[in-house]
Order: sequence, then C-alpha cells, then structure tokens
Amino acid sequence: MELTQEEKDMLAGRYGEGTALAMKIQVGIGEAFDAGRMVAITRAHVALSAQDADLWFVEKLLNKGARCKVPPTVNPSIDLAYLNQHLFQIPKEGVDIVSATNEAYRRIGATLTFDCTPYLQQNIPAYGEIVAFSESSATPYVNSVLGARSNRESSQSALCAAVTGRVAEYGLLLDEQRRAEIRVDVSARIETDFDYQLLGWCYPLKHKGLEVPVFTGIRKRPTPEGFMNFGAQLNTSGAVSMYHIAGITPEAPSLDAALGGRPFKQRVEITESDLDHVRQQICGEPGKIDFAMFGCPHLSIRQVAEIAEVLEGKRLKIDFWVLTSSLTRELAGRMGYLQTIQRAGGHIVADTCIDVPPCWQPYYGRTGVTDSPKCAYYNEIRKIKFIIRPLKECVEAAIRGEVLR
Ligand code: F3S
Repeated sequence: MELTQEEKDMLAGRYGEGTALAMKIQVGIGEAFDAGRMVAITRAHVALSAQDADLWFVEKLLNKGARCKVPPTVNPSIDLAYLNQHLFQIPKEGVDIVSATNEAYRRIGATLTFDCTPYLQQNIPAYGEIVAFSESSATPYVNSVLGARSNRESSQSALCAAVTGRVAEYGLLLDEQRRAEIRVDVSARIETDFDYQLLGWCYPLKHKGLEVPVFTGIRKRPTPEGFMNFGAQLNTSGAVSMYHIAGITPEAPSLDAALGGRPFKQRVEITESDLDHVRQQICGEPGKIDFAMFGCPHLSIRQVAEIAEVLEGKRLKIDFWVLTSSLTRELAGRMGYLQTIQRAGGHIVADTCIDVPPCWQPYYGRTGVTDSPKCAYYNEIRKIKFIIRPLKECVEAAIRGEVLR
C-alpha cells in the first residue's frame, strides 16, 4: 500500500507509540483488503460497549499515548446513577468496568455522546463524506440513507481511524463496490416503521452474502425511524453495511442506477408470506410480561412522543424503560413527554444500552416486551425472553401487563 510521508511518519512512531499502533492496525486492514492507499476521514463513530475487550483496547492505545485526531462520537454506556436509584444496586464489577471505559474514552478524546443513533443528531455526515462508523444501524444509515462512505468498522478499527484520521481505501469507499449486485423484489406491504424491523430481519434469511442489495417495490419513503430499524435488523440477522431502495435512496434514483448498468447476480423475492414467517419465528406468543424495554437503537423524539401519547392519563402495570440519548431526554422534558411517561410509572434513561452486563440483571430469566428484534436477540444469552410487537401495541400491553393475541 502506498503511504504518504505523514502516514509513514505515523507508522514509524514520530507521532507517538499509540498513533503508530493504530496506524499499524490500519495498514494491516488495508493490506488484507488490497487497498492502494489511505484516505482522510472527517468523522468517526465508535461502538463503545463497556465490556472487557473494549476497555482493554482503548486503554492499550491510551497507555501508549494515543489521542484522537478526529473526535469520535460513542455508543451508549450505562447511566449508573439512574439505574442505581431506580432499578437496583449495580454490582461492583459493573460499576468498575463502566466507569473505567467512560473515563478511558474521555481521555483519548472521544465526544461522550453515549448514543447509538449519531446519524440522527450530533454526528451526521453529508453525501460523499468519508467516515469511519461502527455500530449496526449506523453503518448502513450513513452509507445508504445519507450517501456518506464508511466500511463496516469494528469499534477498534473506528477508534484507530479516529486516532490517525485515516482509513484504508477499499470496499464501500469505492464507487465500484457501492453498486448493487442483488435485486430484492418486495411484494410484501411495507408501510410502518415496524414493517422495516421485519423486512430487515427477513432479507438476510433469504440471502446470506455480503453483496450490496437493491430493494424494489417500496413506494413510500421510510421515516428516519423506519430506516433506522431496517439497518439495525439487516445487521443483526445478517451483515449488510449498505443497501439501496430504488427510487428512494440517494445513489439509487432508479434500479438501473443502483446496479450501475450491470446485470444483477441474483434475484430475491420477499413476499407477504415471508414476513409472516419471520413474524411467527421471532415475535413470540402472547402472554404475561414482566417489563417493557425500548430504544435498541435509541428512540427518536418522535417515538418518545408516540409512547407519551398512549400513556397520557394511564398507569403502567409493569416496569417500563425508554432508552434514548441525553439530548432526546432533555427535549422530552421540554415537550412534557418525560413527565407523562413518569406519571404513568415509566422511565426515560439516557446514555444507556440494553446490552451492558450486569446492569439489567433483575430481568434475567424474565419476559419483556419490545419493538426491537435486536433487543430480543442480544438478550437471549441472559435468558431474557422478549415478545416483539409494534411500538404502540407494546405500550398498550405494558398498561395491561399482558400481550394479547
Ligand atoms: Fe444501541 Fe445497545 Fe441496542 S448500542 S442498538 S441499545 S445493543
């Protein structure tokens, strides 16, 4: 790979040992993918996870003196004080790892947004920007919806990119690789944000490859939340870092444009019965529930408003958690949604992820309701069972304490 003098200097340690290590890792990635050179990034997002490997890596860079050249936004952690007060006393091992991870990211120069939807607020790339975004819903959103360019970064490679300000030029940074190869004809009716949860889960079941797909048959532009759900599930049941929707996403004004004038490699159909099959497979049977959890990915203010509207003047039968960014929580307070949800007995907690053990321990072995297949999937290992329904149905179920048929 051809490096500029500055990049060679980084690799040789002239900018410190930490930067040299980050550059070494990136050059290794570039060589693995046959990249010809490195290019500058303008933004990064790191999928911080407050788990052992995450902490080990950021501390390794930090101890070698690394600092971020491009301050990345970061994924949610845990609002320890809030959960301590309102859920349970978080065990010491949880407090220690969360506190150490947060501090390490602060010291390395990350912007502590603690939010997994940076593309909706705080870190929104423009069309054509080269960025390094990790996180399941974030990579497809910036590529597909915004037309920015990011490979599927891990939290570690995105952090290295933030430190060096560079990424190897390969994959989705290149025009050629952004063209669709799989044509997906959707005859199922896709209208609501929840439909995108199911469609996103369904596609990788029908085609397992890493190629970029183009979806046809979707007539109405998804809402930002629909796009968010779509990317999150495409990257949970599969690994889709970029997609096109013909006539809707910016690099697909037409099917032909998405394919770059080439024939498609394979055609996939998604019918109403495919979505029914997914519904039966993942959504679960009706029944009693112990708690409700939303915000995987973090809810937008529009989704918080939808919840507040259902809860106005009502009382919840079960524990009820809405996870979102600190900015959205603040806005929910200004709009009165926070107070409505709290009066009903629910919580809006900022900065927090559904997947940081042992912070949700009181729900291990119990049954919850959520609108997110990703939330359900990640919690299977903790023996938390989730019934999955559209957001409004979940809130109504939480008022009753039961999901009805
Ligand atoms: Fe966000 Fe954590 Fe879910 S990062 S998407 S709340 S697993």
